Amino acid sequence: MVNQCSLSRPFMHVATDAEGISASSLRSRLENWPAGKPRPKVLYTVPYGCNPTGMTATLERRVEVLKLAREFDFIILEDDPYFYLYYGTAPRVPSYFSLEKELLPETGRVLRFDSFSKVLSAGMRLGFASGPEPILSAIEKFYLPLSSHLLFGPRTSLVYASQTSRLAVLWRQLGETLLL
Ligand SMILES: Cc1ncc(COP(=O)(O)O)c(C=O)c1O
Repeated sequence: MVNQCSLSRPFMHVATDAEGISASSLRSRLENWPAGKPRPKVLYTVPYGCNPTGMTATLERRVEVLKLAREFDFIILEDDPYFYLYYGTAPRVPSYFSLEKELLPETGRVLRFDSFSKVLSAGMRLGFASGPEPILSAIEKFYLPLSSHLLFGPRTSLVYASQTSRLAVLWRQLGETLLL
């Protein structure tokens, strides 16, 4: 996460409940934003298994938050290292990144981060970002020279998706065993 001190913008906290970010509370904060004070440009969220509450945002909340992003022109930073660990029996709720493409006529307000640390090996400190091309280019330009990076195409993505689906089954079995 970007060091708060390195940004000149103030941070604000948004209320959440068992269904995710409270869209009504966020709307109210944005609608009543003090005149002359710069509006927030970025919303950071961990939509699956948020630390420390364990909350996973529902589909309805995600849709509401996406609409707010469009209305109030901010970017959603979707930090989602636990997405592939979801092992519930109900279908997995789509990410903000894919929902935006499905629902809205205009895309480009979601920057998504995945991590291999939770699904391949703890502490790998390796992941990937998906999002609007200008932001990805900026990340590449300013961040990647400082770190190692790896590119992969559609075939590797399919292998990854199948590996993570198998892992989710293992997690479910482990959870059921622990609850016995
Ligand atoms: C919400 C969240 N995002 C990102 C990370 C960092 O993942 P990585 O190990 O890939 O740096 C963690 C690590 O636990 C996390 O909990």
